[in-house]
Amino acid sequence: MKKIFNASLNMKDVGAEVEVYGWVAKKRNLGGLIFIDLRDRSGIVQLVIRPENEFYSLAESLKNEYVIKATGKIVERESKNKNLATGEIEIEIENLELLNTSLDIPFTIDDDTTALEDTRLKYRYLDLRRNAIKEKLMLRSRVCSVIRNYLEKQNFIEIETPILCKSTPEGARDFLVPSRMSKGSFYALPQSPQLFKQLSMIGGLERYYQIARCFRDEDLRADRQPEFTQLDMEMSFVDEEDVMNVTEGLIAHIFKEIKGIDIKLPIMKMKYDDAIKDYGSDKPDLRFEMKINDVNAIFKNTEFEMFKKEEEISCLVVKNSANKYSRKMLDSLSEFVKTYGLKGISYLKIEDEVSGSLAKGLSEKEIKELKDTLTLEKNDLVLFGCGKYSIVKTALGALRVKLGKELELYSKDSYALLWVVDFPAFEYSEEEQRFVATHHPFTMPKDEDVDKLLTDKANCYSKAYDIVINGYEAGGGSIRIHDGEVQKKMFEALELNEEQIKEKFGFFVEALKYGTPPHGGIAFGLERWIMILSGTDNIRDVIAFPKTASGNDLMSECPNTVDKVQLDELGIKIKE
Ligand code: AMO
Repeated sequence: MKKIFNASLNMKDVGAEVEVYGWVAKKRNLGGLIFIDLRDRSGIVQLVIRPENEFYSLAESLKNEYVIKATGKIVERESKNKNLATGEIEIEIENLELLNTSLDIPFTIDDDTTALEDTRLKYRYLDLRRNAIKEKLMLRSRVCSVIRNYLEKQNFIEIETPILCKSTPEGARDFLVPSRMSKGSFYALPQSPQLFKQLSMIGGLERYYQIARCFRDEDLRADRQPEFTQLDMEMSFVDEEDVMNVTEGLIAHIFKEIKGIDIKLPIMKMKYDDAIKDYGSDKPDLRFEMKINDVNAIFKNTEFEMFKKEEEISCLVVKNSANKYSRKMLDSLSEFVKTYGLKGISYLKIEDEVSGSLAKGLSEKEIKELKDTLTLEKNDLVLFGCGKYSIVKTALGALRVKLGKELELYSKDSYALLWVVDFPAFEYSEEEQRFVATHHPFTMPKDEDVDKLLTDKANCYSKAYDIVINGYEAGGGSIRIHDGEVQKKMFEALELNEEQIKEKFGFFVEALKYGTPPHGGIAFGLERWIMILSGTDNIRDVIAFPKTASGNDLMSECPNTVDKVQLDELGIKIKE
């Protein structure tokens, strides 16, 4: 291939004859000389053409995004541009060829484009020409290559698992694919390769990995897409520590190779219950401290109406910030926590006098105790929430994250990693009025809790772990149940009857009976990793062709209706 990457050219190439290809990013006519910024994947190189050149009029006719080929000599520039990798040189055009024209583009190919995201997604192929997106995709490619190299060295083998699968309940809703050959039957797209990676362990493959596409029909958020990619791993003959050690090695390697950062190992561990108590989240952002303080003891015998008989009273201390928050701003914080089910926020400002919405209601003794316990200082702002434990913690946790961002309590280039461990095995679903699996039904309960699976679900914990980075759940996994009897008990705990078990997981339960080794694994959300490593909080920035929050591809316009003929072949009739 003749094509070079233009941005590799520099002073060492002065005097060389080169052939360059690319898109016209900008054209300027300065005193007769035409300067062209030529863009290719690697960046920009400047071309210059003189009026006496036979291709001058062709150069004059070029417009932005026209595709050209030019040959010429590399010369040192008179006025250098230190901001450009190729800023010390330019290419004096000898030959110029127009390879293709372009329509006027709907937005400029700029890093700081003001184009609406919907427009960028409709013309995603143009958006990909912007550094802001291109660089993230190149980073993604490098991360995958670093992962592959590392895991191959650790004797993991890459195995591809099916995309057309059996629908098995895993937490989210399945995307279904109708079968033409078995009318009325459906495949499901995998929510994750969970059962297949476990079956690979039963198949004796011992160390599996896959950069696997997953599909989940769930409500989308800033860090969720209906199709996303996991780095999926599974290992045999391991316990929780083994999986975490292997994963930490990989994490340290990724940070070193990609960011040049040495991550301190071992990565700290926090129990799920503590994460909720202290940070109101199972994915605490530890780039800044500001723990949630439980102050129930101080108000045990309070006369203050609002705090009487509340299940939980907790508060956040915002250091040195009382003067930063006006009444109006505090009202808006109250509005914010209401979206999490809290009635509102009440507050104290520690000034010469203690002021704020609680100042009159609390006794002097209570205020003194608060000051002592929380080591309050002048200009501290204390924000209180009271109500049901889980609501208070979740709302204050979300408020903590908001304040951390608003008050810039951490540096954008810092990374705070932790393991969240000892997850409850079950969580109560108000919607279904029963306990459901916190992770998936194949997660091994803690040894001491196996006997409680049917009798005390609220107090069963599991051998599950999440890796959390900067407040993102960057991955999660568990040790799996390898004993058929325990698996049966787990299904029973999840209120699946014999028939449902057979129908949904029969093949898997059968496989467990044939010498299943103890095993466990983990899956990283690849997009979340690239978001963290590239510093964006929009998952669409790290996917070449993403969907919108409502699950649409604006470029190809899907999902869309299909021909009646196609539906007939599948035996499907759309309900009006
Ligand atoms: P889990 O459901 O926790 O575990 O998923 C693993 C990781 O995948 C990422 N993730 C997502 N990323 C983008 N969009 C989504 N919709 C989305 N959903 C999840 C998260 C998450 O931590 N089979 C288990 C893994 C295991 O037990 O080994 C599983 O899929 O970063």
